[in-house]
Amino acid sequence: MSSNRVRKAVFPVAGLGTRFLPATKASPKEMLSVVDKPLIQYAVEEAYEAGIRDMIFVTGRSKRAIEDHFDTAYELESELQVAGKTEMLELVRSIAPADMHCLFVRQPRSLGLGHAVLCAQPLVGDEPFAVLLADDLMVGNSGGPGVMAQMTAAFEKQGRSLLAVQEVPAEHTKRYGIVKGEAAGGPLLRVDEIVEKPAPEVAPSRMGVAGRYVLTPRIFDEIRRLPKGVGGEIQLTDAIAQLMQHEAVYAYQYSGKRYDCGSKEGFLEATVELALQHPQVGAAFRAYLQTIQA
Ligand code: UTP
Repeated sequence: MSSNRVRKAVFPVAGLGTRFLPATKASPKEMLSVVDKPLIQYAVEEAYEAGIRDMIFVTGRSKRAIEDHFDTAYELESELQVAGKTEMLELVRSIAPADMHCLFVRQPRSLGLGHAVLCAQPLVGDEPFAVLLADDLMVGNSGGPGVMAQMTAAFEKQGRSLLAVQEVPAEHTKRYGIVKGEAAGGPLLRVDEIVEKPAPEVAPSRMGVAGRYVLTPRIFDEIRRLPKGVGGEIQLTDAIAQLMQHEAVYAYQYSGKRYDCGSKEGFLEATVELALQHPQVGAAFRAYLQTIQA
């Protein structure tokens, strides 16, 4: 087995989701559904498509629903079986294929994304791993591979940490980690600067980091060494900036589209666009939208 094979994915799902209150008061943001599937399932399916089988969830309070979603639903499954609803039974069972392993670790307090990733270290060990932020819903180009599959294929070739990036409008740099780098062949840029949420006037570029990473295990040492930032938060971006002192880090310009489902606008865009593409409801939904256009 190649040592550059990415076998494990970390899903940090312990954030508070304040931008989606009151929906996220008692249920996790990652369980919000776009059409008929929760955000976390889109992300897990993207990792699975990339050949990853060990799914590590960093959970917090009020996140039980995520564990239940990927567990066997014994009563539901036997009811569906008795009722002969085999299609639905298959649908429910397909959420967690037999060769996929789900592992859970708690982040005791929301101390930032970097801290959440560090909580996964005992389950990741000393190997490269993917990080997927489920509130970024990523859709690959039609007929092409998903974003994580693109990134793991690139990682297998060069073995360096990768950050998914896209060009963002100048007025949006404050919402992203922004990287500056030099073209390094194809979709790759070698990163020489990374800044968390800069104002447009000081942003080093317009390349914004989306919520997909492939990281080498050295990142854990860098996170552990970081001083706490504002509000005690430990930022993954700061650890990546430190990692760059020791190892090359690359930005990967993915093919596909990102929906920022941590914001209401992005969530609504994803809902409308994925509903329009949905095999069951797409045509009827399109017809409905035409009736309400002013
Ligand atoms: P966000 O920055 O979107 O924060 O986190 P949030 O708390 O989820 O949402 P808002 O801003 O309050 O609305 C990005 C990702 O990092 C995870 C979140 O679950 C989300 O997937 N995260 C963040 C953690 O797991 N732990 C943390 O301490 C912070």
